[in-house]
Amino acid sequence: MKGNQKRPYYGYGANRYMIGALAAAGMVCVVLAIALGASGHSTAIPTTCWVLAVILFAAGFFWYLAFGFVTDAGKTQRFHDSFVQQVDALWDGKGRVLDIGTGLGRAAVEIARRFPEAHVVGVDTWTRKWEFWGMSESGARKTAEIEGVSDRCTFVRADAAMLPFDDGEFELVVSSFAFHEVKVPDRTVLFEEVVRVLRPGGAFLICDMFGGRFLNAYRVQSMPQLVQRVRDMGVEEGQFIDAGRAGVDLGGLARFWRPGYLTGRKRARQSGGTT
Ligand SMILES: C[S@@+](CC[C@H](N)C(=O)[O-])C[C@H]1O[C@@H](n2cnc3c(N)ncnc32)[C@H](O)[C@@H]1O
Repeated sequence: MKGNQKRPYYGYGANRYMIGALAAAGMVCVVLAIALGASGHSTAIPTTCWVLAVILFAAGFFWYLAFGFVTDAGKTQRFHDSFVQQVDALWDGKGRVLDIGTGLGRAAVEIARRFPEAHVVGVDTWTRKWEFWGMSESGARKTAEIEGVSDRCTFVRADAAMLPFDDGEFELVVSSFAFHEVKVPDRTVLFEEVVRVLRPGGAFLICDMFGGRFLNAYRVQSMPQLVQRVRDMGVEEGQFIDAGRAGVDLGGLARFWRPGYLTGRKRARQSGGTT
């Protein structure tokens, strides 16, 4: 977060620097290759410079394709509008909300802004790796202050796999692109925690990537299997909504990682196992 900035900063600024640094390093290699070639060096060094330049440009392009969407203000705004629309369809806007892996609090603050009767708690581990990408606890607090919702947003350092909350504390649990970052042997434990901290009848909206290796991290073979595992935790209306179907195109490689929303509602009364 920069000095007196009055606009909220939502992180990932370092992404641009990374793409710029790879492109600049590639350009340096091109200049070196041309200069060394012209000065009559043996071909080995200029050739090495050309190879390095190609690798660096390719890495920069890959980075842009993979993560470019996070610094595209239009794409991220459309995503957050869609996120809030999904929330609106699930919940009456009143009570306590939990945002897991809140980062700089974008989802937490957006919900507090749009739902004046909500009190949102954002949790995150804010490790050093993520601080490098701009995600910090103080940054999340500052976001809430800038948006004028700091009286209804609280931020707590906590692990998604062991939430420090009692059973049934929240009306709504959300998460935006955080579950895939949590290092646990089986990520379904994260949904167990979501269901545990929800009050009966409370809803959840977990947005993340659910394709390929992201899905395998839940120890399932397919999305319907994951939805079923979540339903078996005492969840009704469990479903997966593909981001594309919800009108969000993140572009680049992101679309191949199957972004979407896994949503549902904790059963109001546990039926004792039979349906
Ligand atoms: C890709 S960022 C998403 C941040 C934010 N939700 C957003 O949409 O901008 C992933 C976040 O997950 C957090 N995270 C990673 N492991 C976590 C864990 N075990 N518990 C809670 N948060 C975690 C990281 O610190 C990081 O802020």
